[in-house]
Amino acid sequence: MPSEIVSIIPKPQKIVLKTGGFVFSGKTIISADKALSSLKNHLQETLTHLAGNKGINDKPSEIVLGISKELKALGDEGYAIDIQPSKMKIESSTQKGVFYGIQTVRQLLFSAQEGRIQCMEIEDSPRLGWRGMMLDEGRHFFGKEFVKKFIDILALYKMNSFHWHLTEDQGWRIEIKKYPKLTSVGSKRTESPIEGDRKTGDGKPYGGFYTQDDIREIVKYAGDHFINVVPEIEMPGHAAAAIASYPEFGNTDILEYKPEVKTCWGVHHYTFSPTEKTFKFLEDVIEEVVALFPGKYFHIGGDEAPKEQWKGSPTAKRIMLDNGLKDEHELQSFFIKRIESILKKHNRILIGWDEIQEGGLSPTATMMVWRDWKWASMALKNGNSIVMAPNSHTYFDHYQEDPKEHKEPEAIGGLLPLDKVYLFNPILEGITPEEEKRILGAQGQLWSEYLFNTDKVEFMAFPRMFALAEVVWTRPENKNYEDFMLRLKSTLALLDHIKVKYRNPF
Ligand code: ACM
Repeated sequence: MPSEIVSIIPKPQKIVLKTGGFVFSGKTIISADKALSSLKNHLQETLTHLAGNKGINDKPSEIVLGISKELKALGDEGYAIDIQPSKMKIESSTQKGVFYGIQTVRQLLFSAQEGRIQCMEIEDSPRLGWRGMMLDEGRHFFGKEFVKKFIDILALYKMNSFHWHLTEDQGWRIEIKKYPKLTSVGSKRTESPIEGDRKTGDGKPYGGFYTQDDIREIVKYAGDHFINVVPEIEMPGHAAAAIASYPEFGNTDILEYKPEVKTCWGVHHYTFSPTEKTFKFLEDVIEEVVALFPGKYFHIGGDEAPKEQWKGSPTAKRIMLDNGLKDEHELQSFFIKRIESILKKHNRILIGWDEIQEGGLSPTATMMVWRDWKWASMALKNGNSIVMAPNSHTYFDHYQEDPKEHKEPEAIGGLLPLDKVYLFNPILEGITPEEEKRILGAQGQLWSEYLFNTDKVEFMAFPRMFALAEVVWTRPENKNYEDFMLRLKSTLALLDHIKVKYRNPF
């Protein structure tokens, strides 16, 4: 039996190697039902791209794409592949499953020597349903072409959720027609810290935003790659850029009220006021955002909202009194519940960082756990669904090797080596089977405070994202770090091919 390394990340659940090899060349034909024609084109692009320099042997071969209801047991993302010497079949009960089978085959095509792929049978389906990456474009703006490239890479490794952090203290990045100053004012800051010197500004104006047409284009592109886009509009904190654009939605009655788009990073004090006027504004914003993002989740941030301004605002105090709220945490909970009721009218599920639990959370909201795992346990007990995004294992803005060695460019801090990501288990111990079902999946974070350009994003994201892809896709009994590292070597060659500036762990 052949024993070569099968270079697929994330590792499929079941591979049975066979004797013989399938050889692809310029003469390889792809056949598919009409319903799969766009998937056929997608695979054809890779084949055309690679057949030019591979497949010296010009024997004809065939790849067949098909829908097979018999594969329903693999779920709506599962697929099966049968590779024989002159014919390969990729099948699933859904288009999405066929798409994932194609991603597996694309990786095999890229790593093939002389166009030859070992014959084998693969049966595969994911461990978890939410397989995500978050990109913060509030701190730095990377632009449409990069986002598409990022989506391409997510899809190739079977990630299915792109969480797009679009608003921050340092910039508002999404056009809202009813409030044009959000971008004409809020997308620009007067300067940024110099790289390597967090305390000194560079004196250079910086900005950027996506028009609604840009957003539609990217959401469509992601959808074509079976990736759901989750927009994040931060509230009530991380809102300085919005409040600088429309000061009337901040806590105007505090001392020294002087909103501005922030030029340096940290947890800033500017929060939305909990007034009817502000809720109307947020309702309008939400209405435009949901029209652009068809997915069912809407991320409202909710993290790191300091309570100082509410404490200092007579208006906020009156609202607390009128609504029987005993402290500012209950006021935050009141705020989040108001927003959830707006989202429900649009058939959207509210998702937010784990602070949304403080002061009480409705069980219909979904929570993204970024701090201590105790918040995960509490949310599960409260009946909430959760996505695991803990900073201990999924913050890809942290260093990849010991910062004391000074080998890497500046990161925000922390240390998250590749093996730690690989060993991450998003399923908490000691929970009931019912609670386990409410752990939807996990997600990697790219906070961009110190991601000054797209090369740096790629350096921080890869290869750690591949380790995460295996965490969320591959069942634990099929995982092995040494084996992952062997497969990683050939995936890095693929990344060279598509010009990705990853960090080389070898
Ligand atoms: C966070 O890192 N503030 C979610």
